[in-house]
Amino acid sequence: MDSSRSEIKNRIIKLRSYIHDLNYSYYVLNKSSIQDFEFDKLLKELEELELKYPEFYDPLSPTQRVGGSVQQFNSIKHVYPMLSLSNTYSNEDLKDFDKRIKKITNNNIEYVCELKFDGVSISVIYNNGKFSKAITRGDGSFGDDVTLNVKTIKSIPLELRGDVPDKTIELRGEIFIFKKEFKKMNKERLKKGLEAYSNPRNTASGSLKLLDPQEVSRRPLDCFFYSLLGRKLPYNNHYENLKIVKKWGFKVSKFTEKCSSIQDVIMYVNKWDKLRHNLPYDIDGIVIKVNNINEQEKLGNTSKFPRWAIAYKFQGEQAFTKLNQITYQVGRTGAVTPIANLEPIKISGTIVKRASLHNADQIAKLDIREGDLVFVEKGGEIIPKIVNVQKDKRNIFSQPTIFINYCPECNCKLIREKGEAQYYCPNNKTCPPQVKGRFAHFISRNAMNIDGIGPETIELLFENKLINNLPDLYHLQKTRLLTLERMAEKSIDNLAKSLENSKKKPFSKVLYALGIRHIGETVAEKLTEHYKNIDDLINDSYENLININEVGHKIAESIILFREEKDNLQLIKDLKNIGLKFSSNKENNYTSNKLLNYSFVISGVFNDFSRMEIKNLIENNSGKSKSSISKKIDFLLTGNNPGSTKINKAVDFNIKILKIDEFLNMLK
Ligand code: IVH
Repeated sequence: MDSSRSEIKNRIIKLRSYIHDLNYSYYVLNKSSIQDFEFDKLLKELEELELKYPEFYDPLSPTQRVGGSVQQFNSIKHVYPMLSLSNTYSNEDLKDFDKRIKKITNNNIEYVCELKFDGVSISVIYNNGKFSKAITRGDGSFGDDVTLNVKTIKSIPLELRGDVPDKTIELRGEIFIFKKEFKKMNKERLKKGLEAYSNPRNTASGSLKLLDPQEVSRRPLDCFFYSLLGRKLPYNNHYENLKIVKKWGFKVSKFTEKCSSIQDVIMYVNKWDKLRHNLPYDIDGIVIKVNNINEQEKLGNTSKFPRWAIAYKFQGEQAFTKLNQITYQVGRTGAVTPIANLEPIKISGTIVKRASLHNADQIAKLDIREGDLVFVEKGGEIIPKIVNVQKDKRNIFSQPTIFINYCPECNCKLIREKGEAQYYCPNNKTCPPQVKGRFAHFISRNAMNIDGIGPETIELLFENKLINNLPDLYHLQKTRLLTLERMAEKSIDNLAKSLENSKKKPFSKVLYALGIRHIGETVAEKLTEHYKNIDDLINDSYENLININEVGHKIAESIILFREEKDNLQLIKDLKNIGLKFSSNKENNYTSNKLLNYSFVISGVFNDFSRMEIKNLIENNSGKSKSSISKKIDFLLTGNNPGSTKINKAVDFNIKILKIDEFLNMLK
């Protein structure tokens, strides 16, 4: 490079770095260290140089925040699933959380309390300190690639500052809009004759889904970061890691605090319940996290939530409206939920027309009647609920609500089990929402994950009498499907492919997919770890069942009720014949010496295998499966969300880290 060109290159690099610094100062630290016109001058100089010397193009230059176009968002698998948080609403709930934690860890637990920002969550990935990808939460396992849209958010660094990690790191944060910016935006929209946006959260979430990054760059989006993920984290505690995240140039809330007892946590919660209205952005609660990462790992996750964190939700906004009518909805398991149909009312920026009344007891407790004036509360993402009734305004002719006796869908007499608040329609064979709901559950992502059809297609197939029992799905004829509206050849082929793939799903997923009442994902996982096959499971005694960790009397009774129905036994037989897995090591009960002398530690969650299945695979092939890393271990087999302590130790001991595909190759 001749000297003038290298001078130009240096100037470009210098300008980029200076403008990155200025942006950081302005958008993250809220300090303007230069006049606007001077900033514009520098930016213009950089733009012109980059235009003239395209060979020095850098996609992460501050001039390249807005660029490219999006046709559709690609779905990307999260390396670490994006879990949600379980919610609590009272001090008692918080104390219970503390007790649960201390049962598993120790008494000197330290918590970190954070504001719960009311926006939309995002996962951002950096390679060697450079912005690489941004993915939405999606269903927690797969999200949408919104890289180009997130790149337009100026407070998110394109290059990290200071000591930069030379590996892949992933950060989680919440994209939001400041209240002031939101008001300004709406004022401008109204001026232009456009409809105002409903609330900052929905607007932030909608903005990420726009196909035009140029338009996104005009939205005043911002982002607070609240977790750091990666194979080797800088510190062993969350609080210190957040400090590093801040040093790298991210916006991290200054209100995050360490608390050494649950009483301190409660004080933090109470303080912010009062102060939250003064904040310049919306929060809907407080997030409480165990600080120590080893303890977090020890506590682990359920399939939906981490056990080491919880959200305390503030009471939502309340409004007063008329309850026009009570209707009843029948769910997949036959549970009948009363629904309040309300005179539409705006709460927290959205129009509310319906609220859940939960069950007959709730109606009786509040003496809720049609025609009543009621207080409705809407908190975050929860379905609005009725919290009170204005009885003195009640019409003198109003009658107490009598819960229906017959199913509104199939007219079958409803039943109510002893001690249960819920009424059920027992007609699980022909009651339409139950039959359709069973299919919707069976095909859902966390169950058999059958692409190519959704609830609408299920509706269509059901209406056309093509499906009634789950096995019918596997006997659908292409020629018949082609005669249906909305069923194109390609989607039929996709459906066939994913039905075929579903035969590889592990026993735990199949068990969950059956939709047996009270058997959620975690329970299915626990049961399939305990029982090698479905026959051992459903034929076991009530006493044995309730002795299993996480199995209580409701679950045990539900399993027994399930086996008492002949049709259910036939269902299992039919699905077995189709080829679904009803045992943990069905395919793999052959033995070999392929893993002889090798020892493995397993960490993380696997999509197509339960941990027990992997353990069996190792042992059936003469390998050893151990629970903790030591120098004697040969391999660390990792799935999604592996424990970082295990990874760190494996790296320290020079233990080979395997992905599931590499492991399966060893068995070939
Ligand atoms: S931590 C596994 N911290 O709340 C822990 N979440 O209801 C995952 N959120 O999906 C979340 N502020 O979108 C965490 N300080 C905070 C948060 C926060 C807001 C959101 C986030 C998450 C949702 C869970």
